[in-house]
Formats: sequence, C-alpha cells, structure tokens
Amino acid sequence: EFHREPKKLALSSNGPLGKFDRQQLQRGYQVYKEVCAACHGLSLVSFRDLAALGYSEAEIKAEAGQREVPGINPDTGEAALRKATPVDKFPSPYPNETAARAANNNAYPPDLSLIAKAREGGPAYVYSLLTGYQAQPAELLKHFPEAKTGEGLYYNPYFANLNIAMAPPLTGDGQVTYADGTKSTVDQMAKDVSAFLLWTAEPKLENRHRSGLAVIIFLIVATILGYLSYRNIWAEAK
Ligand code: HEM
Repeated sequence: EFHREPKKLALSSNGPLGKFDRQQLQRGYQVYKEVCAACHGLSLVSFRDLAALGYSEAEIKAEAGQREVPGINPDTGEAALRKATPVDKFPSPYPNETAARAANNNAYPPDLSLIAKAREGGPAYVYSLLTGYQAQPAELLKHFPEAKTGEGLYYNPYFANLNIAMAPPLTGDGQVTYADGTKSTVDQMAKDVSAFLLWTAEPKLENRHRSGLAVIIFLIVATILGYLSYRNIWAEAK
C-alpha cells in the first residue's frame, strides 16, 4: 500500500474550542491569491467575506478591483469581462471546464471552496498534498510497473491515485512575501493556505464550537437539576 494517510496538521481551529488564527488566514489568503488562483476558483466565497479575516472595506474593494468577472457590455448587450466588486465571488480563471482542461493537460483544477470538507483529512489533506511531492519509490515500480508516473503527472502518495496532474504549486521558500513579515517557507505557505481553505469551507466553525460548548454546559446543568429533583421527590420514600 503506497497511498498515505494525511500528516498531522496542528491548527488553532482544531478541537472543540478551537478558533481561527486570523493572521494565518490572511497569510493563507495571500498564498491562494498569488499562487492557487491562477488555476483554482473559489465560487462560494465572495470578496466581502474577507471582512471576517479582518480586512477593511477599502482593502476588500481593492482586492475585488484587481479581478475580472463575466459581465455584460451595457452598450452592446454582449458578454464581456468587468471589474469585480465586493459582492462578486472569486472567479475561476477559466471561462469553462473545457478551457480549464485544455490549459491543464486535460485535468480539471477543482473549485477549492469546499475542498477542505470534501476530502478525508480536510486541511491536513491539503497540507500533505502540497508538501508530499516526491520521487516515485522503486519498490512501487517493481510491484506495479503500470503505475509509473506518466507524462505531465507528478507522484504524490497523498493523492488518491498516486499520480496527480497538478505540478507542485509551492516550489520554494520566499515564493510569497507575507505582509506580516512571517518567513514564507514552503511548509509555512502550505499550512497557511490549508488553514485558509478550512475557513472557506467552514466559515462558521467558531459559531459551531461556541454553540456546542453551550449545549454541553446546558446538558450538565440539566442533569444536575434532574438528579436533585429526583432526590427531592423521593426524599420521604423508604
Ligand atoms: C488539483 C490545491 C495551485 C492545477 C488540486 C487539488 C487541490 C489543489 C486540493 C485537488 C486534489 C484532489 O482532487 O483531491 C491547490 C492549492 C494551490 C494549487 C492549495 C496553491 C497553493 C494550482 C496551480 C495549478 C493547479 C497553480 C495550475 C498551474 C491543478 C490541477 C488539479 C489540481 C490541474 C487536478 C489534478 C488531478 O485531478 O490530477 N489542487 N492547487 N493547482 N490543481 Fe491545484
């Protein structure tokens, strides 16, 4: 068995009381914007959603203004690109799936909005995939020569079929210059973008954690009250 389980990824949002690390989410957004957005859209996330990461309205307007989305030319009524506004979603860089496949050796770069929920391991899977590229083990080729990594594919033991059509997107330290001055090693960028993609997939994670805690506390109190009233009701009985 050459396929591997995702590596462990310690995120501040893990655990029943976990909260997002906003600085990290901002760094992850930077990685998405500067690296992943060349091939992957985020069709369920709008620019104004970035407010939850701590960006101001002006910053969000500026972010949206750098991107183009499909629109209509008001003079001719024909389809045309227009500047995005904060209510628009992060567009796919390709007009359609055919164009996306044509640009990627016939593979389809999926929308990343929900990827951290769609794959087992969640953000840990994304992190493992990004840091998991390696040479194909000789042992594997010995047993399964037909599994040899083909033209335009890359060996990655975290990918379900071991050979992925995405070239390693994080290629070297310093690929992104972080606004907060954090050193952008490949490992750091992979962690940050995985944390960011967990946020896109589950923006209400903190609310879920909070209400979970409230429910547990309520149940404990209700159990104690129930027990005390049971004692009270049966106090006279021998
Ligand atoms: C697939 C993440 C950058 C092209 C994927 C998958 C993930 C991912 C999670 C899905 C794997 C699966 O199906 O389980 C990322 C991240 C990036 C990034 C986080 C930035 C750090 C890029 C770039 C390109 C690209 C820049 C294009 C040059 C593709 C393609 C696939 C893919 C073609 C489909 C692979 C296949 O089905 O074999 N990516 N990606 N990705 N990505 Fe990326």
